Amino acid sequence: MNKIPIILDCDPGCDDALAIIIACRHPAIDLRALTATMGNSTVEKTVKNACQICTLLGVNNIPVAAGMAQPIIRKPYQENYVFGELGLEQFGFKLPVKKAVKPEPRHAVNLISDLLMASKGEISFVATGPLSNLAMAMRLEPQIIPKIKQIVLIGGSYEQGNVTPAAEFNIYCDPEAAHIVFSCGRPIVMIGLAITEKVLATPEIIMATQKINNQTAKIAVSIMEFFAKNNQMISHLKFVPVYDPAAIVYLLKPEIYKVKPMHVEIELKDESEYGRTKCELPVSSSKPANAAVVIDLEFGKFWDEILRILKDYCE
Ligand code: BDR
Ligand code: CA
Repeated sequence: MNKIPIILDCDPGCDDALAIIIACRHPAIDLRALTATMGNSTVEKTVKNACQICTLLGVNNIPVAAGMAQPIIRKPYQENYVFGELGLEQFGFKLPVKKAVKPEPRHAVNLISDLLMASKGEISFVATGPLSNLAMAMRLEPQIIPKIKQIVLIGGSYEQGNVTPAAEFNIYCDPEAAHIVFSCGRPIVMIGLAITEKVLATPEIIMATQKINNQTAKIAVSIMEFFAKNNQMISHLKFVPVYDPAAIVYLLKPEIYKVKPMHVEIELKDESEYGRTKCELPVSSSKPANAAVVIDLEFGKFWDEILRILKDYCE
């Protein structure tokens, strides 16, 4: 089997946790590193959560590293502390202390740079949090840029935002970083709110996950139920969107995603629009397409794939 080499940069986060589970377990994915950034919580908490998920899964052969504690230019924006504060202990899972996965001492930005520089082939970069780590790595060592096969990211919106009317959370947390990434010249797949807000953990999905009845599915159910409960307090949506696994499933089943090439620019000057992903169809050569923006997803097939992974590849 030809494995897909990836670096997963994330801010767990309940939905990031589900993305990590799938990336760790799927035999077609070669997860080279898990790098954490501030976002859903402080970087101290998000890296702790990433380590705890690996510990629970018994995954101890993947480097985990803490990255950017702050955005590149502006002050940190942090509001959505769902799941970040307490970590997985709150679900009652026993975390084996002796085999606890620990973050490595290297900064995530250095780890990303080292891995890409040392790799013979290209690596796909999957980002399910703010883009600070990737942007810093690109500035630290621009030679990594051509080694990135593609950047598959959760973030942005060609419609409304979810933090401000203009901006989506991951982009809003560090718009300058997003600007660096969207200008890098490598293929980008942007999976924004038009899709991720429709990837809903409905009671039917939670029940179908429950039926799988293995340890990993139980973890997934706990995370979804917890996220659903908290989401009711902060969101207008009836069911909770599990945004981030959409990036991992894209790598496995791109054919179920419908994309349109667009020119995406990040608004950095107009305060009221700050962090908007301005998406335009590439009508003129002065603004060529720099991203494939996902405009539709076969949601039934998406959930079939998630449930199949939990059933076939998890214990
Ligand atoms: C994104 O924001 C975060 O809170 C989620 O983890 C997801 O990556 C959705 O806007
Ligand atoms: Ca996230």
